[in-house]
Amino acid sequence: MKHFPLSSADQLTAALAPCISRPLLLWFEQHKRPLPWRQGYSPYHVWISEIMLQQTQMERGVQYFLRWMKALPSIAAVAAADEERILCLWEGLGYYSRARNLHKAAKQIMAEHGGVFPSDVKAIRALPGIGEYTAAAIASIAFEQDIPCIDANVERVLARLFDIDSIVKQEPAASSIRSLSQLLLPRGKARAYNQAMMELGALICTKKPRCTLCPLATLCQSKHLGIADQRPVLPQKTPVRLVDAVTGVLLCDKRVFIQKRLENDVWGGLWEFPGGKIEQGESPEQAIAREFMEETGFAVRVKQKITVIRHNYTSYRITLHCFALELLPANPKAQGVQAGTACPKPPVLTAASAWLWELPHKLPHYGQPAAHRKLADMLFGQQGQAALPLLSAPQPEPAQGQ
Ligand code: ADE
Repeated sequence: MKHFPLSSADQLTAALAPCISRPLLLWFEQHKRPLPWRQGYSPYHVWISEIMLQQTQMERGVQYFLRWMKALPSIAAVAAADEERILCLWEGLGYYSRARNLHKAAKQIMAEHGGVFPSDVKAIRALPGIGEYTAAAIASIAFEQDIPCIDANVERVLARLFDIDSIVKQEPAASSIRSLSQLLLPRGKARAYNQAMMELGALICTKKPRCTLCPLATLCQSKHLGIADQRPVLPQKTPVRLVDAVTGVLLCDKRVFIQKRLENDVWGGLWEFPGGKIEQGESPEQAIAREFMEETGFAVRVKQKITVIRHNYTSYRITLHCFALELLPANPKAQGVQAGTACPKPPVLTAASAWLWELPHKLPHYGQPAAHRKLADMLFGQQGQAALPLLSAPQPEPAQGQ
């Protein structure tokens, strides 16, 4: 909260604040979207919605939110669920550390707060996966505390309204935005005001501004100057990075080998077919044999190329070469490594925390990165049934002399 004495510029902003908040709140009352968590503003609902909406479009966020609430209607249900269930419900939203942190936070709320979501902003901030923005959003929207929320939508609205002419995420603009947010917040109305700012940014003060529909158009400095489309000032874009990668499907005894990724990366905790980046001078076929050996200790060879999957992820453009593999006779056989299977010696994992020889029809029970899910569906899903015998059929010997 901003404390007195205020500078004269700040006093002016504070005095003019109602000229902004009044029309904004009126507009919000008339135009707000009927989002499911806006029905009762339960802290659990607000929390899950805020985590889901990070890096996610609203429409998609709402679909995932509704499915999540049907499966896990309470904090206690989240805490009691196993990680596979949580990751499956999150599959497709990306940034899986968010899901793992939700799980940890739910357990923490059960253990330390008697299952009741804490209302103190410091206690909220201390939960795993909750940063400054999310703590402010929960404290203001669920608990009606006078704390401003600053997300990219709010930054855009304020940068245009006050014609902030430097990069919004960096100093000095970041401090100006924090200060303005404090001064403009109408006391006792943070729930509506914070959402109204975000909603205005999402619906009207969009990348391409729709100023004719804006309740604040007459007050907007950048509109007045005719440069609304040049605000906010953004940092240079990260260049697109092309990545060639491989993955391999290894079947043994009608089961497929999958491994659980280590927690410390973007797809941490998800189950994948082993693989990795193609190194310089390597063919995709060489890369998959090398990756399999490095990650599992299994000696494999390519039976056939299955497909190439293209997948965009943040600034990465990934080309994933997918292979059907078979074990080389060099792998010692061992019975009973995993109950009910006759698969080879246990793998030596270097890039995963767990492994399984799993029946293909059970893969939907495991959270998988999008490209691996596409591959699994292609091979074992409804349209892919035919591919299974093809994967497990013995490889014809290559013709001599070729
Ligand atoms: N973005 C994140 N949370 C939001 C909310 N409660 N209303 C509108 N946009 C949002």
